[in-house]
Amino acid sequence: MKDNIYLDYAATTPVDPRVVVAMEPYWSEVYGNSASIHAYGREAAKSLEAARGQVADVLGCHPTEIVFTAGGTESDNLAIRGVAWAARMARRGNHLITTPIEHHAVGQTIDQLRDRFGFEVTVVAVDTHGLVDPDEIGRSIRDDTVLISVMYANNEVGTIQPLAEISQIARSHDVPLHTDAVQGGGKLDLDVNRLDVDLLTLSAHKFYGPKGIGVLYARREMALAPTITGGEQERGRRPGTVNVASAVGLATALRLAEEERVSESSRLAALRDRLIGGVLARVPDAQLSGHPTERLADNASFVFRGCDGEALILGLDLAGVAASTGAACTTGDPEPSFVLTAMGFEPEWGIGSLRLTLGRWTTREHIDRVLQLLPGVVEETRCH
Ligand SMILES: Cc1ncc(COP(=O)(O)O)c(C=O)c1O
Repeated sequence: MKDNIYLDYAATTPVDPRVVVAMEPYWSEVYGNSASIHAYGREAAKSLEAARGQVADVLGCHPTEIVFTAGGTESDNLAIRGVAWAARMARRGNHLITTPIEHHAVGQTIDQLRDRFGFEVTVVAVDTHGLVDPDEIGRSIRDDTVLISVMYANNEVGTIQPLAEISQIARSHDVPLHTDAVQGGGKLDLDVNRLDVDLLTLSAHKFYGPKGIGVLYARREMALAPTITGGEQERGRRPGTVNVASAVGLATALRLAEEERVSESSRLAALRDRLIGGVLARVPDAQLSGHPTERLADNASFVFRGCDGEALILGLDLAGVAASTGAACTTGDPEPSFVLTAMGFEPEWGIGSLRLTLGRWTTREHIDRVLQLLPGVVEETRCH
């Protein structure tokens, strides 16, 4: 794998060696259960609370508003189902608003609330760049709306949503706003006051932390029914013995990413633009997917007419380049992704999608090698 090129950082990132070092003591030295009242437990609890404080510093919130979960999927589930169930119990309303390009962790949770629990759902359309219109969200709000869930940045095409405008509208109608910020973690401003969101999801493995640990920020006054039942950990919002090693890893990774965010984003944006410019210049019948400017610094995604995305990924893999067609979780699905379909791409284009996502160890040499390789691989996988 040494000479291979990894361009799938949006699927997952390697753990930063500094994060590995920070986590090391928590496997066999500081191993107490953070809920135990003896010295071992208190030592673990101290580290857990320090980690919580570090996360709260980056998000600009109070530490008690941070819930550690087992990842982005669980945080999304807790946010959406937790708010919906709490609203149902208080008879506050029955209506949810979302977009058609959310990750399945959001989309399937909302579908289940609609299909099995009788909630009503408005799915606000996106434009050809994957942008949602905040005014359309405003027009969809009803007296019984209990939650709006709009992702911060899309995992497939990298489009960044106008969250501040959406939150203004949500606030003016007094409707809570959740954002799945999994793809924004370590890349975008996560200050919850500037964003003015009520709930925000993060996942450590997208910003050089370990897998299987996430965060849900939930504003103090949010009524949130626990979706897992058990003990009193995480103030009853997420029962279960807390994974202190991973919480420390997440907090360290987030702090490092935040410290390096501005410089790393401009380095990546320059490489991304070189890649986008090169691909569009060298590959015929190619289009950029996602927004031309409002996009993540690490995301270059394309559609190639008459191309088979799966074959393209396999061809690149044979050439030593790891990439993705749409979201990692939909790989293996021969249909155009639901994201590209919602953006209006015809199957002739949508099936031939390629997502190249850059990261901390991507170099200019990597980009140039991919630019040399890609035109040939695309041609081989076109259905002539
Ligand atoms: C936008 C988005 N939300 C949620 C998730 C799920 O996060 P996790 O893998 O931590 O469950 C992902 C992972 O790909 C994602 O990209």
